[in-house]
Amino acid sequence: MDNTMTLFPSLLLVAALSLILLLLLHRTAARRKLRLPPGSLGLPFLGETLHLISAYKTENPEPFIDERVARYGSVFTTHVFGEPTVFSADPDTNRFILQNEGRLFESSYPGSICNLLGKHSLLLMRGNLHKRMHSLTMSFANSSIIKDHLLVHIDRLVRVNLESWTGRVLLMEEAKKITFELTVKQLMSFDPCEWTENLMKEYMLVIDGFFAIPLPLFSNTYRRAIQARGKVAEALDLVVKERRKSEGGERKNDMLAALLEGDGGGGGFSDEEIVDFLVALLVAGYETTSTIMTLAVKFLTETPLALAQLKEEHDEIRARKGDSEALEWEDYKSMPFTQCVVNETLRVANIISGIFRRTMTDVNIKGYTIPKGWKVFASFRAVHLDQEHFKDARSFNPWRWQDSSATANSTSMFAPFGGGPRRCPGSELARVELSVFLHHVVTRFSWIPAEEDRLVFFPTTRTQKRFPIIVQPRVQAV
Ligand code: HEM
Repeated sequence: MDNTMTLFPSLLLVAALSLILLLLLHRTAARRKLRLPPGSLGLPFLGETLHLISAYKTENPEPFIDERVARYGSVFTTHVFGEPTVFSADPDTNRFILQNEGRLFESSYPGSICNLLGKHSLLLMRGNLHKRMHSLTMSFANSSIIKDHLLVHIDRLVRVNLESWTGRVLLMEEAKKITFELTVKQLMSFDPCEWTENLMKEYMLVIDGFFAIPLPLFSNTYRRAIQARGKVAEALDLVVKERRKSEGGERKNDMLAALLEGDGGGGGFSDEEIVDFLVALLVAGYETTSTIMTLAVKFLTETPLALAQLKEEHDEIRARKGDSEALEWEDYKSMPFTQCVVNETLRVANIISGIFRRTMTDVNIKGYTIPKGWKVFASFRAVHLDQEHFKDARSFNPWRWQDSSATANSTSMFAPFGGGPRRCPGSELARVELSVFLHHVVTRFSWIPAEEDRLVFFPTTRTQKRFPIIVQPRVQAV
């Protein structure tokens, strides 16, 4: 457990450094007579950041953004983690930020995250290497790969996991296990075994580190995460070496095979590059997809009409196929209402509520100038939950996606997977995984919440109690 007494000096240090940075940035901007977006900065670490954190720790962080948008407009300056940050709640500005990746903006993660991801992670790469690696990743998670290779494993691994469901189930934990197993299969072709279970234990410690105070001296969680990152890297390094030894044998159809064959800009990728790349992919798809699985079930539980319609759609598919036949691509393509549920869950939950970038030069937006080196935050959440862009935006209404005229307008506002050169390469995979998961859950079980659980949005979007439910096999299961 982190100790408040030991945290306090580090928070003070961060606050003092941020204050100096803030004064420098402001003085420079003022000297150059730049027109900055309006906003309230407060104290660097303790002011706006604490407001923001306490808003996102509740079920309803919207008033925080609403109030600032009403006062300053949809592009305003605020403070996030000790740095002045331009916050965009405006869809055009968000698109501009995403599309100008590498020209006007670059991705920006704190050093603590870089330590956990490894320096060769896709999320941290820039320029040409990023372009090549992004398309390599896409080539391993696109529709035809999912259709021809991954779907069968997704179906099988979801079924196997659901077989052990009985009585009280912690849905978030189950979803995490399924997602981890799917990702390991996709990356390295391993089926669940003792090795994958041990890897998952270490890997969970790494994930905890992303949400800890990133100072090894003060935070046990962060220190443990760094150690666990070392162990995960060691385990993956052995796999890479084994695979190199067996090159020339049967080619596996997985991401690791694609990386071993990739040129990495001449001469192939080093083992370290491949390991960092695999770690980043494990991280990127895990928390996101498992949370969306959990929240889809939560929203459906709270919206019985939607659940009933979803069951009908999936019962029809099961009736065509009998009890045990695996889902095929055509089945996935015949789930129109499921896709509405997927979209609506992504819109309301906003697992990635937005993305941070840093300006590479002075950037003009909406008549303001954002100085070089400033942080910007393109908020998807603010757009998705804005009543101007989505009617009755704050309620879960999957039917909105059935109305094609509304959909056309909404699609340009809808960016749960980001956009531009860094658009999520796993978007289709996440959709398929969620659809298959929903299919098997609704055709096999009925459930009720085991206890009340609340949705919170800090440090990540999740429910406080990991959404415990009581499941029962469906009596009329087909
Ligand atoms: C519901 C599930 C998911 C959501 C909401 C999601 C969302 C996002 C978003 C918003 C970004 C853009 C980040 C940025 O612009 O800085 C992103 C990037 C990324 N996602 Fe996903 N993602 C999901 C699932 C997955 C899966 C299953 C994979 C596995 C292949 C994946 C792999 C990645 C990678 C590698 C990146 C970095 C791309 C780059 O920097 O070029 N994601 N994701």
